[in-house]
Amino acid sequence: MKTRKLTRRQAIAVTSAGFAGTFLGVPFRSFGIRNDQQLKTLAINGGDKVHPGSWPQWPYWDQTAEKGILEMFRSGRWWRGSGEYVAEFEKKYAELMGAKRCLATTSGTTALLTALNVLGVDAGDEVIVSPYTFIATYNVIFAQKALPVFADTDPETFLIDPKKIEAKITDRTVAILPVHIYGLPVDMDSINSIAKAHNLKVIEDACQAWLAEYRGKRVGSTGDLGCFSFQNSKHLASGEGGAILGNNEDLMDRCQAYHNCGRPFGKMKPVSGNQYNGMNYRMQQSQALILMSQMSRIEKDNDIRLSNALYLDKNLKEIPGIVPYKLADGATRAVYHMYPFRYIREEFNNVPREKFIRALNAEGIPCGGGYGKQNNEGLIGEQLASKGYKRLFSETRIKQWHEENKLPGNDQLCDQAVTFYQSILLGSKADMDDIVNAISKIYQNRSSLV
Ligand SMILES: Cc1ncc(COP(=O)(O)O)c(C=O)c1O
Repeated sequence: MKTRKLTRRQAIAVTSAGFAGTFLGVPFRSFGIRNDQQLKTLAINGGDKVHPGSWPQWPYWDQTAEKGILEMFRSGRWWRGSGEYVAEFEKKYAELMGAKRCLATTSGTTALLTALNVLGVDAGDEVIVSPYTFIATYNVIFAQKALPVFADTDPETFLIDPKKIEAKITDRTVAILPVHIYGLPVDMDSINSIAKAHNLKVIEDACQAWLAEYRGKRVGSTGDLGCFSFQNSKHLASGEGGAILGNNEDLMDRCQAYHNCGRPFGKMKPVSGNQYNGMNYRMQQSQALILMSQMSRIEKDNDIRLSNALYLDKNLKEIPGIVPYKLADGATRAVYHMYPFRYIREEFNNVPREKFIRALNAEGIPCGGGYGKQNNEGLIGEQLASKGYKRLFSETRIKQWHEENKLPGNDQLCDQAVTFYQSILLGSKADMDDIVNAISKIYQNRSSLV
């Protein structure tokens, strides 16, 4: 925390002594200097920041891992075929997540590609997918030359709306790909019962949902296969990396084979030439060692994120125009890769969301606007107009896809979402107060933003 004449918190102790006020239910713990004009003026308009200090940095490095990593590098045993670390990580991650099996991969993208291949998503098939997600979720469907069909988002939960799925099923649909975005669990019972009724596979994109729980069970093993990412920004990070979880031994054997150039695994019978269809998506030993060193922290970190998120939920919902996410039916624990809420500009004197975000950033609170309306982006139009897609799908089907590509819930969410990155949630309760107070300050001064 920077010092001025008095630290901000000392100043509060002095100036708010005897002032036991709350604003819309939020205690004036740091925004308590009510007669300090510099602090009352929005930072974007030249006033003082509510939060002049720093935030927890991400990722962290565990020095105790250094000896093992150096020894492994010096040994020259860098790939998984020459050492035990990747298999050791797989065993530990499966145990942590309560799944029978885990397969480590080079990334979340290659985990998804492996799962799609093993579950038989083929050229000309259709996959129903959440539109509110990172681009990789539907890019992998395009990589299979299959058609991503978006089912609308429930803006309250930020998740695919199970009620919008059945209308999107055609005779080409083979799978549903729900995304536990920001670590918020999808209503998996509804998804699984739709899948069962229509004989579809379920691939969970749990790339942002390590240890999130649905009905007390960790997500990623509540569908047919579940995929995770360990990219640098993630709660469990190794620069790049990914994993697939599953409880079906045959499917997991096939995932192992697919990610290892098609070499048969487990109970798979050797075929002529000894190879099945496959790619090289093998994780390296160094990635596994880093991941194992990070695993010791993730449960404790997630507890801190959860406690801070619940604190924000309670306080932010008291501010008009700030609507925190709602958990989906059956979600018992979220893990907050982002902490999301909706900003209702009408309550803020019609100040555009982008200006609200800039004002909050200026107060020292980093935040962003979440995902865009990707169902309308150029990449999709380009793919659907390509030579290959013209061969695979009739003109009528592509026309119908465009006509049905209307997602009012998702559009609304893309216009309203505001998100805090996960490491912000590793801050102290006083840091969370700063977030609440900065938003309260903007609300109070909303007329000065127009
Ligand atoms: C929801 C989602 N799906 C898939 C991916 C792809 O994972 P990776 O970046 O490890 O390939 C990510 C990564 O950010 C993600 O957030």
